[in-house]
Amino acid sequence: MGELETEKHVQYILAIEKKKDDFESLVMDHLRMSGAYWGLTTLDLLEKLENVDKEAVVSWVMKCQDDCGGFAGNVGHDPHILYTISAVQILALFDKLDVLDIDKVSNYIAGLQNEDGSFSGDMWGEIDTRFSYIAICCLSLLHCLDKINVEKAVNYIVSCKNLDGGFGCTPGAESHAGQIFCCVGALAITGSLHHIDKDLLGWWLCERQVKSGGLNGRPEKLPDVCYSWWVLSSLIMIDRVHWISKDKLARFILDCQDKENGGISDRPDDAVDVFHTYFGVAGLSLLEYPGIKAIDPAYALPVDVVNRIFFGRKGLP
Ligand code: FPP
Ligand code: ZN
Repeated sequence: MGELETEKHVQYILAIEKKKDDFESLVMDHLRMSGAYWGLTTLDLLEKLENVDKEAVVSWVMKCQDDCGGFAGNVGHDPHILYTISAVQILALFDKLDVLDIDKVSNYIAGLQNEDGSFSGDMWGEIDTRFSYIAICCLSLLHCLDKINVEKAVNYIVSCKNLDGGFGCTPGAESHAGQIFCCVGALAITGSLHHIDKDLLGWWLCERQVKSGGLNGRPEKLPDVCYSWWVLSSLIMIDRVHWISKDKLARFILDCQDKENGGISDRPDDAVDVFHTYFGVAGLSLLEYPGIKAIDPAYALPVDVVNRIFFGRKGLP
């Protein structure tokens, strides 16, 4: 399987920002904020964030904020809660949350909560448990969870629980590992994990490991490196990570590296991208692979960043 090609992955990510005019950049333009979060968090996990011009990134992030308080995927685009969490996470990585008008951002997020406790993604109203997670994660990072009705938010998430122990995007929707991460993460952050049948969900999640060692997101689907994050983080939060083979999963992720040019793909020999590079490295971090900083399974940020936010600059209470 070989080793993690840390230096190649760092060079791959640093190069992405430089080639802004190719096709991939063009179609990804509207979600550059999330791309920046994936790339920058990978660099931080690999202890290479100092290679980035922090002031330039922070100033670009702030240019993406709309008057309503939410952030867009890039300058001149519409705001959405998806890009708002990426903006908050990027500022958290750089210890720059103080540039935010906290009231403005948190009021925007709180304003997206609906009567039944669910959250819309933006003014157009699509509802999804992804948005519940994002709202709860962001407001927690900003110390503003009191701006929403947490009890209703939790009850809505619980109403998306299925008989197989998993969660879907809305009540009655099929279980999907990405949505499970969102629901388990939101319940973990709000101290509500008692709503989960850990053995039942743990069983569904550990069945996601296929012969190659990789994890899929639903029964009968192909394995995909990004599910190393969605499934593994959920298993850790419910204390059932010992139900899968960690060695086989690490081997699968390492097999998805482009060993020549850097980057990680969804499956061995596919084209690499920054999304799978991040979730591959984040998955290896959860597996305690040497040389990678620890990542928090609920906040999807390096543990030292989360500690700084909740316990102060030195990580002390
Ligand atoms: C799979 O997507 C993943 C999800 C549905 C979860 C997405 C979660 C968020 C956007 C919340 C923010 C996340 C973090 C880490 C801070 P997919 O479209 O790849 O699913 P598919 O494999 O079924 O196509
Ligand atoms: Zn994927």
